[in-house]
Amino acid sequence: MSSDIEIRLAEIDDLAAIFHLGEKVFTPQEVSNLYRTWDEYEVTGLFNSEPDHLLVAKVDGCVVGFAMGTTIEKSRSAWSYGHLLWLGIDPDYARMGAGSMLFDRFREIMKDRGVRMLLVDTQADNAAAISFFQRKGFENPTDHIYMTLNLQKED
Ligand SMILES: CC(C)(COP(=O)(O)OP(=O)(O)OC[C@H]1O[C@@H](n2cnc3c(N)ncnc32)[C@H](O)[C@@H]1OP(=O)(O)O)[C@@H](O)C(=O)NCCC(=O)NCCS
Repeated sequence: MSSDIEIRLAEIDDLAAIFHLGEKVFTPQEVSNLYRTWDEYEVTGLFNSEPDHLLVAKVDGCVVGFAMGTTIEKSRSAWSYGHLLWLGIDPDYARMGAGSMLFDRFREIMKDRGVRMLLVDTQADNAAAISFFQRKGFENPTDHIYMTLNLQKED
């Protein structure tokens, strides 16, 4: 089945499909992180600023998955980092290797750019993603606590 999956850089005509697939995949319960929001600006913004880091998986010309990322330079560090921001696979195409193929291409692109370390993050209860990333070689999961302050309560 994975032989039917094609991985390529996203084109402008793919953006609506990516956005709608993200709406399906990044449900409020499974939102990938708290500091970025899945909306149309996320897709168009990254397509404008980093088109080489936006990949799609296609089957018969239809988008069934995508990967979007960015590079990070830290001051006083010789290292540059790659952050895989969003990885989403249509549930109808889960466990067919599309996520793996997207990730492998993303890693290749990052390596060609001189990136020395890749970062991913996901919610602690996203067992599928954690298992996927461990399978791809990620290690050293680090706890990160988010806290909220309800400003309306102060009124
Ligand atoms: C996580 C996700 C990207 C995996 O995509 P996928 O195309 O189904 O993954 P693959 O078929 O390439 O799986 C590769 C390996 O990852 C692991 N894996 C993938 N999905 C898994 C699941 N639901 N449960 C346990 N392990 C899983 C397995 O080891 C799998 O190998 P196997 O099928 O030979 O056992 C997909 O489930 C998804 O889009 N989830 C919702 C969005 C999300 O959480 N994104 C990640 C954070 S941005």
